[in-house]
Formats: sequence, C-alpha cells, structure tokens
Amino acid sequence: MGQPMKAEYDLVIVGSGIAGLSFALKVAQAGHSVAILTKKDKAESNTNYAQGGIAAVTSAGDDLEKHVSDTMEAGDGLCDAQVVREVLSDGPARIEDLVELGVAFTSLDDGRISLGREGGHSERRVLHVKDMTGKAIEEALLAAIAREGVEIHEHLFGIDLITARKARKLGIQVEGNEDFVLGLYAYDASAAAVRTVSARSILLATGGTGQTYLYTTNPSIATGDGVAMASRAGLSIANLEFIQFHPTTFHSLEADRFLITEAVRGEGAKLVDGNGNPIMGKYHPLADLAPRDIVARAIDREMKRSGVPCLWLDTPAMSIDFRDRFPTVYENCLKRGVDPVKERIPVVPAAHYSCGGIPAGLDCSTEMPGLYACGEVACTGLHGANRLASNSLLEAVVLAFRGAEAVNAYLADKKKPLFSLPEWVDGDVPASDERVVLSHNLDELKRTMWDYVGIVRSTKRLERARSRIRNLSREINEYYWNAKVDLPLLEVRNLVCVAELIVRSALSRKESRGLHYTLDYPDKAETAETVLVEPMRS
Ligand code: FAD
Ligand code: SIN
Repeated sequence: MGQPMKAEYDLVIVGSGIAGLSFALKVAQAGHSVAILTKKDKAESNTNYAQGGIAAVTSAGDDLEKHVSDTMEAGDGLCDAQVVREVLSDGPARIEDLVELGVAFTSLDDGRISLGREGGHSERRVLHVKDMTGKAIEEALLAAIAREGVEIHEHLFGIDLITARKARKLGIQVEGNEDFVLGLYAYDASAAAVRTVSARSILLATGGTGQTYLYTTNPSIATGDGVAMASRAGLSIANLEFIQFHPTTFHSLEADRFLITEAVRGEGAKLVDGNGNPIMGKYHPLADLAPRDIVARAIDREMKRSGVPCLWLDTPAMSIDFRDRFPTVYENCLKRGVDPVKERIPVVPAAHYSCGGIPAGLDCSTEMPGLYACGEVACTGLHGANRLASNSLLEAVVLAFRGAEAVNAYLADKKKPLFSLPEWVDGDVPASDERVVLSHNLDELKRTMWDYVGIVRSTKRLERARSRIRNLSREINEYYWNAKVDLPLLEVRNLVCVAELIVRSALSRKESRGLHYTLDYPDKAETAETVLVEPMRS
C-alpha cells in the first residue's frame, strides 16, 4: 500500500515516463505540491524501453542547422519550423541536466561521448547508454524524484478529467463561464475503488498509443489514455494518422514485438532479402539510413512482392563487437533463438510512435486553462508527418523544462480557487462479468487497426475500419456505463476511442505525406495542413 493521497494538489501529473518525471522535478523544486499518478509500477513506460538514445548537437563536426534540416526533412513539410529550432537548440543544455542527474552516456576509449547514428540523421548525434538509454534515464529521474520527495502513486489510473463545464452540468457552482480543469477521477487498482483528486493544474504525460495495434514495440501501458481523456474533455486532437511503424522488430507472432534499434543499421547492418541481397539502395539515397517511413514502406513492399514473412538484418557482416555495443538486443535475440553474431536477425515493422496527439505549445499548454500535455501524448509541431529517430526523448526533456516554468507561473496566481468536485458514480455490474466479450472486442480492434490502418492505407480500408470500430465502440461504451469499472475495461474504452480518432484523422487527410500513405491520394497536397479531429465528448 503506497502513501495516502492529499485532498488537493497544485499539480497532478498523469504518467511517470521521461516527460512526467522531468516536469515533476522542476515544479516541485519551485515549492509547489505535486503528485504523480502512474497506472502500473513507476518505471513501466515507453521511456524505459528506449534503446537508440537521445539526439542532440554535441560534437564539433555537427551543428544546429543540420539537426534542424534533418528533422524538417523527416517531417515531410509538416514540422513547425520555429518549434523545431527552439526545441533542438535547447537540447545540449538538457543533456547536461541529465548528466548532472547521473545519466552516464557511453563514451569512447579516448573519453569523447560515443555518438550513434540513426535513420534520417546526416551526422552521428545520438547520445546513448549502450542500447539501454531509456532505462538509464528513467532510473536517474526516479532517483531524483525520490530525493526531492515528490509523491508518486503507483497503480493509480487516470480515468477522466473533471472540468468546470462538466461540474456545472452536474449542478456544481463554478464561477464564470470559461472551461478549465478542476481535477480528475483515478482508479486505484490496489483498493478497486475510484478516487476523486482535486488539482489546480494537471499535466497529461501518458505516452503513446501503440497498443491500438496488434503488433507494437510499445509496452502494455501505451493505451493512449491521455489522448482519450483530452478528447472526452472537449479538446480537438491533431494529426493522429501519423503512426510511426518502426521498420525493424524481431519477427515473431508475439504481440509485443521486440525492437531491434535503428542504431544497429547506424553501425553498418544492412536490410537484406532471403538471398542476402541488400534492398534499400533502390528506395533512397541514404539506403538503410533513410527516414523511417521510407524504410518501413520498402520492407512492406518487399514482403508483399516476394511473399516472404520478414526481411533480415545482416548482423554477422558487421565489423563491430555486437555483444558489447548492443547487449540488450543480443540477449533478447538469443532468448528468441537467434545469435546475431552468427545469424541474420529476422525483422518486420510494428507500430511504434504516435506523432500526433493533444495540440500543445512550447510551454506544454493546451487550449484548456490549467491543462498541460508533454511527451508522446502531445503534438507540438516538432515531428510533423514523421518523427526523426531519437528526437522524442529530447522533445520530452526540453519541453518538460519549459512547461514546468509555465506551470510555476500559472500557479503563482494562488487566487485560483479549488472547487468541490462531483463524486464518482459507479455502475453496479462487475466489469469482470463481461471479461471474455471485452477481450474479444480488444482483439478485433487491434486486428482491424493492423489490417486496415497500417503502413499502406486506402479510403475503402479506412471506411471499413471506421464502421467496425464504431460497432465496437457502441458495445464497449454500453458496458462502461453500467459497469463497476476496472483496469481492463478502462483501457479498452480508451483504445477504442483512440482508434476511432486515428481513423477519423486518416480519412480527413486527402494526400500521402510522411507516415500517412494512401493508395487513393498517392501525392502530397501543395500545402501542408494540420488535421484536427473534433472531441469525442462523453
Ligand atoms: P512514457 O515513457 O510512455 O510514459 C507514460 C507514463 O504514463 C507511464 O508511466 C504510464 O504508465 C503512464 N500512464 C499512461 N496512462 C496512464 C493513466 N491513464 N493513468 C496513470 N498513468 C498512466 N525515443 C527516442 O527518442 N529514442 C529512442 O531510442 C527510443 N527508443 C524507443 C524504443 C522503444 C521500444 C519504444 C517503445 C519507444 C522508443 N522511443 C524512443 C520513443 C520514446 O521512448 C517515447 O516517445 C518516450 O519515452 C515517451 O515518453 P513519455 O514520458 O511521453 O511517455
Ligand atoms: C531505435 O532505437 O531504433 C528507436 C529510436 C526511436 O524511436 O527514436
């Protein structure tokens, strides 16, 4: 049993990945009361599994202009140039902060930092801790949080935001007409009960949406909860069709596809077909280090053309000490029966990263006063239509720093009153009564997304997906409104909401750009526009 929650907080943070933890640290240091809620164990996050590293300009041969240009090129015309420049220019300072917190980036024998290379980067600029960068960052941040005495509540699942609009609808007196956050409902898995939490401000740092797909690199926490919460609270969601499929995950029928970091190609591995022939030369001048959307589409095409179930990474041909540089990949391949020093690794693409999300500024503010979004859940304009590899850890740490300053300023206005909140009303049917049906719903949802909303799309496939998802949504929401909620039900409710948002966003984009490729509109439109999908109010 963890520590009890207080009646109210200045800031409640939902999520304990790099974004939530970095943000918490800086707001707590300013003396505000902060609580982090996290739905599983505190280290369980996408952050914890990041392999390749964190991109920033730190070497003499590199410069900001090159990093900006690589980011914009990968983003395929949809990046916000000012956001790109500001985020990337803050990178080196935030790297120094991480080093100060104890992140020991791998160095070369001569003492210089070892810089990895990944797809779309014209220079080596990815700082890494071998191939376990995310784990090292997560550990350092959790230790810093503990030193600062920030409350972290595990197994507490943010369900829905409580907003002024919602409270007024329920007959609660809230001054004025504007909408803003008052708090949230959270499901306490240890007590099987819903808590009502009062907060002057809330940060959504819930990470990605990978679990909407049958095959994903993301751990089970990545169910798009923050996007669903924001949409239900009345916010439009931006560019959600840009789902990044990582080109290389270990080929197996397991749903959690183990990532083979792009840094393996950065160190010289080539993608080859069944005869050992390299494939990427014919698709892009950067060959194996082309931007990710191009590599994933090339693999998809090669697999469809030749009918093979996967391609291979030719690791035995590499001239590095694979075990030393990639110990996590090495061990995980061995566990799956392949020794990458002697055998090629079988690889296929899998859903990996959500470039869209809750529209948020450089200070993490959203259109709702008091509500902030940071990390993978947010859409800031940095990634455009396709994220450059290793720019997401960087975005999270840079914008958490800036966002925390904005929250500190918002909280300085201590006049902001806390209001009494409407209590949660639970249904009376145990959600477990429908466990089997719900798990079939979930399976159907993930297969629909994989089959119809994948790397290559068409209007017909997207419409088919929309109609299936709507049926699933009706069924799942009917259970939800009558149920005594539990974690699987809350997650599937969010997944079906996010899947619908992805499909609606994809149907609205009448062009192919970056990660969104549709056979019906194979060309890029003349002007790059953001797609905003209207809220799915509850
Ligand atoms: P996360 O780290 O995912 O944290 C989200 C947190 O929110 C978790 O603690 C989760 O439990 C919690 N949460 C979610 N919903 C709720 C809820 N309803 N209530 C309470 N808590 C909730 N990017 C790079 O830049 N470089 C890399 O090398 C790299 N490698 C990657 C490798 C893998 C295998 C994966 C999956 C991703 C990788 N990425 C990489 C992407 C990057 O890791 C993520 O984009 C980034 O870590 C996201 O950080 P975050 O803080 O936004 O979210
Ligand atoms: C990888 O290591 O290939 C993942 C990097 C990323 O997603 O940025």
